[in-house]
Amino acid sequence: MKAPNFRKEAAVFSFFFCLFAVCQTFPTPADRASLIKLEQFQFTGGNLLSTEKELQVNCILKRIKAKEIMEGMKTGKFAPAMHFFRAKELIEQSPVFKIIQMMPKGAGLHLHEYALLNVDWLVKNATYLPNCYICFTPVGGVQFHYFNRNQQKKMVNCSEWVLLEQYRNQIQNVTEFDNSLMRNLTLITENPEEAYQSQNIIWHRFSDAFAAASSLISYAPVFKTYFYEALKEFYHDNVQYIEIRALLLPVYELDGTLHNKSWSIMAYQEVSRQFKNDNPDFMGTKVIFSVHRKLNNAEMKIAVHEAMELYSKFPETMAGFDMVGHEDAGHPLWYFKNELLIPAKLGVKLPYFFHAGETDWEGLHVDENILDALLLNTSRIGHGYSINKRLAAKQLSKKLEVAIEVCPISNQLQCYVCPDES
Ligand SMILES: *[C@@H]1O[C@H](CO)[C@@H](O)[C@H](O)[C@H]1NC(C)=O
Ligand SMILES: *[C@@H]1O[C@H](CO)[C@@H](O)[C@H](O)[C@H]1NC(C)=O
Ligand SMILES: *[C@@H]1O[C@H](CO)[C@@H](O)[C@H](O)[C@H]1NC(C)=O
Ligand SMILES: *[C@@H]1O[C@H](CO)[C@@H](O)[C@H](O)[C@H]1NC(C)=O
Ligand SMILES: *[C@@H]1O[C@H](CO)[C@@H](O)[C@H](O)[C@H]1NC(C)=O
Ligand SMILES: *[C@@H]1O[C@H](CO)[C@@H](O)[C@H](O)[C@H]1NC(C)=O
Ligand SMILES: [Zn+2]
Repeated sequence: MKAPNFRKEAAVFSFFFCLFAVCQTFPTPADRASLIKLEQFQFTGGNLLSTEKELQVNCILKRIKAKEIMEGMKTGKFAPAMHFFRAKELIEQSPVFKIIQMMPKGAGLHLHEYALLNVDWLVKNATYLPNCYICFTPVGGVQFHYFNRNQQKKMVNCSEWVLLEQYRNQIQNVTEFDNSLMRNLTLITENPEEAYQSQNIIWHRFSDAFAAASSLISYAPVFKTYFYEALKEFYHDNVQYIEIRALLLPVYELDGTLHNKSWSIMAYQEVSRQFKNDNPDFMGTKVIFSVHRKLNNAEMKIAVHEAMELYSKFPETMAGFDMVGHEDAGHPLWYFKNELLIPAKLGVKLPYFFHAGETDWEGLHVDENILDALLLNTSRIGHGYSINKRLAAKQLSKKLEVAIEVCPISNQLQCYVCPDES
């Protein structure tokens, strides 16, 4: 990519000049062309000048894309216009997607620790490890835990732990059972509009899926392998660097030993270095320590102090601090202003990466989060879905160059944009 195209800017300028000077009454083809150019210039990347080779690639890509759009018009099935669960298979077959998959991505900056890797691996590999127990919860969900056979299993909250190996030996159809486990670990369902009729229902299912996944991933041997496998998946998609939001919950060993937050960060560091050794063009991993936004002020104070400590102890691996969980249901950022201002008051550096504006509400405390995130010097904004309603935030984020981590699929799944509003 080269410098901006100044000729384009000149064309844009002359268009405005002409428009305001009212040089003619009717639009001419040249006016139309200028307006289209102006719009193109305002697209993301519109002010970059492509090289000869990039233009060639673009030409090929656009041809394939046009073909896909034409096919979509014919069949009435166009992946970008469908619910992701129904579109996923189409997307995976799409030649456009395959090209995008090969393209270098730079960084994956909005990831969560228990949703880094395809769930197939958790079911087909992690739950098949020795000593893996399952608990069927009263509400039809599942939890997992790895125990020594003769270990006291009562310590972990569940009425009955069943050894998975034994359980699989006695059931009729293991494939079907494994599929049910996969459904527990994702939101995928055939009829999402029916299953998820409100954001609250989705957020509950979402937390259950995370809880089930975390009960597997928090086992130390799984923790490290899961992360290595995840890096492999990102690398395969040509992602060079990742940052993960992590609660840094205790990781456990078979004998019940619990590890603390430093251990988890060192484990991420160690696995990431190992992966970099195996794949030298991978650039690494950073962790954004995150806590739930339902904490109270006293708990948040402790968390902020912990974050400062971890940030100074692991400057190469810690990126900063964030809050996770359903924004509508949690506390707004301003509720924690005293705690979040502690680092600034102490003169200690702690970058913020706030989730903010992941809401459909307007005019409440929650949707001011996006303004408060900027006031608190956030480095990026997670989702920022409501930013189009907050003009000042939009302008300020541009001025301060605070990037927004946009995820249209998430917005669709979580029903912020519903395909069917009925
Ligand atoms: C996961 O399990 C599958 C099937 O048992 C096996 O083929 C694969 O090698 C395993 N992958 C890893 C990373 O252990
Ligand atoms: C765990 O304990 C809580 C109460 O502390 C209870 O509501 C929940 O059902 C228990 N979970 C399981 C799996 O037994
Ligand atoms: C087991 O379940 C799978 C998935 O539901 C199904 O495709 C398969 O035919 C079943 N196998 C048997 C032996 O019933
Ligand atoms: C979770 O797994 C259990 C046990 O197989 C199953 O009964 C339940 O239907 C699964 N949950 C979902 C959402 O599929
Ligand atoms: C974690 O435990 C280690 C010892 O196992 C200790 O040195 C370290 O300070 C602890 N870190 C935190 C953040 O508590
Ligand atoms: C935000 O940055 C400004 C300018 O660097 C600084 O004065 C202020 O203390 C910072 N606020 C926080 C909450 O870090
Ligand atoms: Zn998130």
